[in-house]
Amino acid sequence: MKRLILNAGQLLTMSGPDRARCGKEMSSIGLVRDGAVLVEDGKILAAGLRDLVLKHEAAGDARIVDAGGRVVLPGFVDSHSHAVFAQPRLADFESRLKGETYEQIAASGGGIISTVNGVRGASEQILASGLAHRAERFLECGTTTLEVKSGYGLDIESELKMLRAIKSAAGHCLVEFVPTFIGAHAVPPEMAGRREEYVRRVCEEMLPKVAAEKLARFADIFCEKGFFTLEDSGRVFAAAAKAGLGLKIHSEQLSRSGSVAPAVAAKAASVDHLDCVDDADMKVLGGGGTVACLVPGSNYFLGKPYPPARKLIDRGAAVALATDFNPGTCPCWDMRMIVSIACTQMKMTPEEALVAATINGAHALGLGKTHGSLEPGKQADLLCYDAEDYREIPYYFGSTGAVWVMKAGAVAHAREGFKI
Ligand code: NIG
Ligand code: FE
Repeated sequence: MKRLILNAGQLLTMSGPDRARCGKEMSSIGLVRDGAVLVEDGKILAAGLRDLVLKHEAAGDARIVDAGGRVVLPGFVDSHSHAVFAQPRLADFESRLKGETYEQIAASGGGIISTVNGVRGASEQILASGLAHRAERFLECGTTTLEVKSGYGLDIESELKMLRAIKSAAGHCLVEFVPTFIGAHAVPPEMAGRREEYVRRVCEEMLPKVAAEKLARFADIFCEKGFFTLEDSGRVFAAAAKAGLGLKIHSEQLSRSGSVAPAVAAKAASVDHLDCVDDADMKVLGGGGTVACLVPGSNYFLGKPYPPARKLIDRGAAVALATDFNPGTCPCWDMRMIVSIACTQMKMTPEEALVAATINGAHALGLGKTHGSLEPGKQADLLCYDAEDYREIPYYFGSTGAVWVMKAGAVAHAREGFKI
């Protein structure tokens, strides 16, 4: 099916160099007024000024979609989530409202471990259908590509079950999943006090199996006091690289461990969270080879200070924004809300936040060549937003603004009564 989207009052192409946008480059959204996009077989044939797109030889017999003067932009690329789990953590939520901290709740058997118990008791099919159901909510908010982590299984069978659930959910929804193995998310309760032995198991047993079944594209680790050390991270990175997986790390979230420099040296695709980074870490991230993925929804939900987005960008880092959707620290699937939090709480500009939520998210997933911008040859993942000005996206926070969402050229979501 060929479609010609016309009358985009503001088309945000995000066009630019073939790498993550860093520092000042993050202000460039490739804005075209009265824009058009020509789509065929799931790919973009042309995007830009209406008159230029209309001249394309394939434009003649395409089905017209009138964007009605609205904003059209790439689908959001959410590069960090823990979206496979059985139950929400409502009791943890209440305990925190009464004053307990995330760390205290984790230490008393709540937190990640309570989700582990739920996942271990659930079938692959239940986990898959839960993920497919949630994926619809992501789509309604404009997310077309979503990274999803394991990490609530913590034994070989349960971790494989989670990753297989991601694979099978992919057949039941239009969101594209990028699976990440994070066996080193917490030490499982049955191995309490035997962290090093568990890390060996992650590296020597779990990772090779995950890679052999091609169940993950990345490996991740929670490098944090009470969870895993810098040395553990080095071991997991070495084993993951050997198995052919890309690297990610939960870095400097609750305390500083010094994990940024070694992760950048190991060519990690992204370092995520970064609440506690210092000047030296920010210097290492300037230049943008490794994406600094910020997840301010978790700061909002935990009531914690925000990571230094402004300083990171001013020092030349390539910042991405993601939800970190998970039942403990951020039960929010809405990238529009994350973009709004980034602007109001971290003082990112709307342009920077939208670059971070699209093209830089794609680069955090190694998908920058095919996703995250509206350029010829790229996948047709796009979103029509009920706004005349893109700044309305962070401004009307909490609103339901997506009119329609397209994934690989197919209509993935359309507001009721809206035909495209
Ligand atoms: O990114 N920090 C580790 N992992 C998640 C939290 C997971 C959970 O609490 O279930 C995060 O915030
Ligand atoms: Fe996380």
